[in-house]
Amino acid sequence: MLLLVALALGAAVFLTWSVQSARLDDRINAELGHEAAKLREFARAGVDPATGRPVSGVRALLTAYLGHNLPDDHESFFSVVDGRADRRSPYPPPARLDHDAAFVARATRIAASGRPASGWADGPAGRVRYAVLPVRMAGDRARAALVVAEFRDLQRDEAEETTRVLGFTAFGALAVAGLAGWLVAGRVLAPIRLVRQTAERIGASDLTRRLEVRGNDDVAALAGTFNTMLDRLEAAFATQRRFVDDAGHELRTPLTVIRGHLELMGDDPAERAETRELLIDELDRMNRIVDDLLVLAKAERPDFLALGEVDLADLTVETVAKARGMASRRWRVGEVAEVRVTADRQRLTQALMQLAANAVRHTGDGDTVEVGSAVRGAGVELWVRDTGPGVADEDTARIFDRFVRAGPGPRRTDGAGLGLAIVGSIARAHGGRARVERPPDGGARFVLELPLRPSSAEPSPVPVMDDGPATDGPRA
Ligand SMILES: Nc1ncnc2c1ncn2[C@@H]1O[C@H](COP(=O)(O)OP(=O)(O)O)[C@@H](O)[C@H]1O
Ligand SMILES: [Mg+2]
Repeated sequence: MLLLVALALGAAVFLTWSVQSARLDDRINAELGHEAAKLREFARAGVDPATGRPVSGVRALLTAYLGHNLPDDHESFFSVVDGRADRRSPYPPPARLDHDAAFVARATRIAASGRPASGWADGPAGRVRYAVLPVRMAGDRARAALVVAEFRDLQRDEAEETTRVLGFTAFGALAVAGLAGWLVAGRVLAPIRLVRQTAERIGASDLTRRLEVRGNDDVAALAGTFNTMLDRLEAAFATQRRFVDDAGHELRTPLTVIRGHLELMGDDPAERAETRELLIDELDRMNRIVDDLLVLAKAERPDFLALGEVDLADLTVETVAKARGMASRRWRVGEVAEVRVTADRQRLTQALMQLAANAVRHTGDGDTVEVGSAVRGAGVELWVRDTGPGVADEDTARIFDRFVRAGPGPRRTDGAGLGLAIVGSIARAHGGRARVERPPDGGARFVLELPLRPSSAEPSPVPVMDDGPATDGPRA
């Protein structure tokens, strides 16, 4: 950046210098022309301005002219009369061209020719642009001329001086600005460097460290954001660790059971057959746990859901039709939402079937299990309701955690307490949540609250599927 500015400045200085020196030559030529015009004017009048009387002779004319017309800086005028330098302007010039014999001879030749001429000469003061302007007068045979000399190199020195001053000022300012920028940038970046160094020290093994948040500028905000991210990471790592711990712990039990049975197995064929049965049962249980754990692990991933259009009325009715096969209960379709939403049909079915399986486990033959759906507020609700014992108040939140089984000691063949965890994960993946209620008339009502906007609300006939008093046996 600084280099770019320096280059631009350099170009500007160089351009200034070229323009100035080009102008200089133009100006010198114009000056020569101007002097010639003044002399012509003066000669035409032929009057000495000092005395007011006409001058007599060329020599007197030139003398009067020199006395009257003073040169600028870096200029010199003198007259040449009959081969000799005659008079010069009162101010001493930078170099005495009138003392240069070769030059005077050249001027004399031009004077003799009678035609004005200009050219370049070199002297102690550098290159000089000159003009020789011959002057004639009727009745005077003298060969005289006015020499106008412009000391170009001296004038050019002036231009160079200007350019140099410009250059020094520009680059000086650039240096000062650069230094100031560097200092300011250093001060501004110092806190960011601190943040980076601290961040480097925080490894995956030690996520408990946090950045110090000082002040309330952007850097403090950055540190704050960074800390929030670390909070999330730490929580995520902790969750994962707990998950692995729980899973390992839970899988160890069936393994121990299997091992114990195998070690104690005798030779009696009847006992062997019994043990075999038991072991296969235990292995099936392990299988289910592993499957459920895989679902839970996958629930954290973005590809957990395969979204599509789901007709909630269809879903509700179909769930009851499928669940009917599980056990003989009074299966009912409750309220149904006549809407379509964007959701994962298979996952929603999985959640409802899970809830239905729980309902079956916690109810008996004469109990009712109802599945329903409704549009509520800004979203929809899906629920499974049963007339079983319900859930104790202190367990309502807890049972959605994995490996949590509440109530009276479950039999060995019971689930591992992952069912409701999966239901919760499916609800969360849809942006909602799962909860359990205790309806006033008893039992339990498990609800999926999903903030899904109905994509259409076509009025289709409500399918009436009430089984009446009771259905006996599965009907799949
Ligand atoms: N319909 C229900 N009625 C009463 N309690 C229930 C019901 N469903 C679940 N629960 C309670 O919630 C606990 C956790 O359920 P879940 O996560 O499905 O695990 P699991 O079915 O393997 O026990 C159950 O152990 C039970 O105590
Ligand atoms: Mg269950």
